[in-house]
Amino acid sequence: MTPTRSNRTLSNVYSVADLREIARRRLPKGLFEFIDRGNDDEIAMRENLDALARIKLKPRVLADVSSRSQAITLFDRRQQMPVIIGPTGSAGLAWFEGEIALARAAAAHGVPYTMATGSMTAMERVAREAGGTLWFQLYLWPERELSHQLVARARDAGFEALVFTVDTPVAPGREYNLRNGFVIPFRFTSRNVVDVGMHPRWLFGVICRYLLSGGLPRYENFPAHMQTRITALPMGRSMATNPGMNWDDVRALRKLWPRKLIVKGIQHAEDARLAADCGADAVVVSNHGGRVLDSAPATIDTLPSVVEAVGKRVTVIVDSGFRRGADVVKALALGADAVMLGRAPLYGTASAGEAGAARALELYRDEIDRVLGLIGCRDVNDLGPQHLMVPPAPVASDQPGVELGSQEARIRGVVL
Ligand SMILES: Cc1cc2nc3c(=O)[nH]c(=O)nc-3n(C[C@H](O)[C@H](O)[C@H](O)COP(=O)(O)O)c2cc1C
Repeated sequence: MTPTRSNRTLSNVYSVADLREIARRRLPKGLFEFIDRGNDDEIAMRENLDALARIKLKPRVLADVSSRSQAITLFDRRQQMPVIIGPTGSAGLAWFEGEIALARAAAAHGVPYTMATGSMTAMERVAREAGGTLWFQLYLWPERELSHQLVARARDAGFEALVFTVDTPVAPGREYNLRNGFVIPFRFTSRNVVDVGMHPRWLFGVICRYLLSGGLPRYENFPAHMQTRITALPMGRSMATNPGMNWDDVRALRKLWPRKLIVKGIQHAEDARLAADCGADAVVVSNHGGRVLDSAPATIDTLPSVVEAVGKRVTVIVDSGFRRGADVVKALALGADAVMLGRAPLYGTASAGEAGAARALELYRDEIDRVLGLIGCRDVNDLGPQHLMVPPAPVASDQPGVELGSQEARIRGVVL
């Protein structure tokens, strides 16, 4: 094989942490921190990782694991790995047309790619040029009819699922963005000009390529009159928040959207029930990767209560903090149907475009396969509480009638 620049970049990548490190070096600090960090004191972001680390896997031996499968069936479709690439609005800044890179890597690995509302590549182009299973993520604007236009476009472009993100009614606090001058509209400060100047590979490889092919990146999925450059503020405000969102919006989307409807950002069993009652096909237990509410619980701790509440009625997906194949195995053993990945494939994209995103998926594939072998499980569909040792859940107060600290407040049946 002729060594390409991407192959060389990826030659020493053995973990998601390695991809993160390459991304850290390639990207201007302001952009890297936007991708990498959480919000406020980053308690939730750390807790996602710590809670996963607290759960242990219980190996069984002599189980003949000579053949192993991690294929799952999600929405009646067979897929080779139990993961989904989640929506990340900045993929097109991490790499030139990063959304196409991510979608192609997902298609090559037979997993869905979720395109974010705030992408820099038009959804129709991604559908044309990447193929595979495509989902569209929606931030619902206060001007509902404009958002509903996007929903119609996604339907016409053949997207298979609509992912309605509900966890950002108001904007989260991210002080590092303000310090780095990484804000929208983008303001040129001596700090961020120096930052960009110190990362010429990114400047030439991403921004200059956009300039040569028509100008600074735009929000290509926004309606024409809102398609400002990233240096301007569309409609004069944040386009990810809407304090007026409510359950009627889910019902309205259910009427408009003919395919799978997924509500992303659920952190309470009762909200999962309401989503199912409104006609959602799936929920994503997510705290946005610890990027919105800083004292949110780890999603792996919330997952069992959501599975118990709605697991028989709707598909349950989980995300936030899944950096290793072992983490994915733990979520499936706790009843998740699949795991969504946010930062990991984005670190890969920032490192080496499509090849980097594909490398991220390969890492999960290899690690899941290895862990299955080591715990004596041949098929991810056989995973269950018997494979886990789970510490007492810190709090499970969303269960009606449960007193804090009582035995029932622990994750039921999995303290083995
Ligand atoms: C840089 C970045 C941008 C994101 N943009 C969006 C978005 O536009 N819409 C959305 O629903 N979630 C967005 N998310 C959240 C992810 O979809 C996902 O919930 C989260 O990253 C999962 O945690 P993880 O990064 O630890 O895997 C974003 C996350 C990151 C890191």
